[in-house]
Amino acid sequence: MTAQQHKGETCVLAYSGGLDTSVAVAWLRETHGFEVVTCTGDLGSVRDLDAIQKKAIASGARKAIVQDARDIFVRFFVWPALQAGALYEERYPLATALGRPLLAKLLVDVARDENARFVAHGCTGKGNDQVRFDLAVGALAPDLKVIAPMRGGMNMTRDEEIEYARERGIPVEATTKSPYSVDENLWGRSVEAGVLEDPWGVPPRDVFQWTVDPDEAPAQPREIVIAFREGLPISLDGDELGGVDLVERLNKLGGKYGVGRIDQIENRLVGIKSREIYEAPAAVILHTAHRALEDMVLSKETLRLKAKLAQEYADLVYNGLWFTAHHQDLAAYVRSTQRFVSGEIRLRLHRGAATIAGRRSPHSLYSTALATYGKGDQFDHRASEGFITVFGLPLRTQARTQALWGEGSEAMLDVPKKALEAPKTKKKTT
Ligand code: ARG
Repeated sequence: MTAQQHKGETCVLAYSGGLDTSVAVAWLRETHGFEVVTCTGDLGSVRDLDAIQKKAIASGARKAIVQDARDIFVRFFVWPALQAGALYEERYPLATALGRPLLAKLLVDVARDENARFVAHGCTGKGNDQVRFDLAVGALAPDLKVIAPMRGGMNMTRDEEIEYARERGIPVEATTKSPYSVDENLWGRSVEAGVLEDPWGVPPRDVFQWTVDPDEAPAQPREIVIAFREGLPISLDGDELGGVDLVERLNKLGGKYGVGRIDQIENRLVGIKSREIYEAPAAVILHTAHRALEDMVLSKETLRLKAKLAQEYADLVYNGLWFTAHHQDLAAYVRSTQRFVSGEIRLRLHRGAATIAGRRSPHSLYSTALATYGKGDQFDHRASEGFITVFGLPLRTQARTQALWGEGSEAMLDVPKKALEAPKTKKKTT
């Protein structure tokens, strides 16, 4: 783009208050001639909204909008993902990935209020977050144009950014710069880069800020009880809590017991594997508890299908496809499965682990009378005979006609034909 090509036009920038986006404010103004409006959504990591607003203005923004979006984040993004059992590649609870579509939505809303035709974000060209922003904006407002200075154009090293900021009187934190790239919100903390790029290297202590080293956690376990209503957690140890409070409390409590550390090599959408460290105590505890309750109240078939869809759901969230029809359709199924997911889960937090200690539910499909090996057994043992006769019918038919496992058959896997006369293997003599 040529210099000052957008003179006088408004661009709304997703603003974190960090160095990159602060420099981007000045850069968008000076290089393109934009009037910059910043948009900051607090999803649980912004400590001081006033300070961020001041910093945006000091960086050259015409207007700085800040919003506490924590409640919306939990209700409309975190809870549905919890109900879906969405864990990317079986582990990552998707904190960052869930936050992006909401930040994009806030950005689009502000762009509409300001009659802007341009929005911008500070994502690099190598990660998932650029995809999530771009796709979300594309789905919500296809007429808006997205500018990503960090993906091209701005091209500054960290030292150059500091220099650029100093020259313009943009406050640069005196605090020692973090050796990592960190993103955090209520649902978790994502840490990458620096020494973590060596996948064999043990993460140093300074990576962790929410959780204690499990070795240094209290020796005594702590028991907690979480109650769910229709798939949503509503209380902790009997205290009814709103979503934000509940998640905050569990992050603190879990962190104290070293729960919620995840070290993962994951597949980014752009085709590279990356090593991430996550801290997500509340997410780990709540997913564990929710899953345990589902095990008790959902049928085997629903559990099976839901587990498959959980993977699909996690992928779509990770890949930035939040605002799609596919998501709406999956969410409708998930919501329907949650109508009996009410009850209580008892967990034990101890030195890095959150383990299920007990569960109960008015909709439980677990029946002691059917399960017991003791007195009061109501299961009809004799009926099993007929059941197995029918269940095994195709297998016996096949055995009679195809001799799959008999003498001389081909498909013997590695089992010796006569297991009892198997050739003796030589033992190593020491
Ligand atoms: N890999 C995670 C994701 O794609 C987290 C990325 C967050 N960014 C960071 N600077 N650590 O959702």
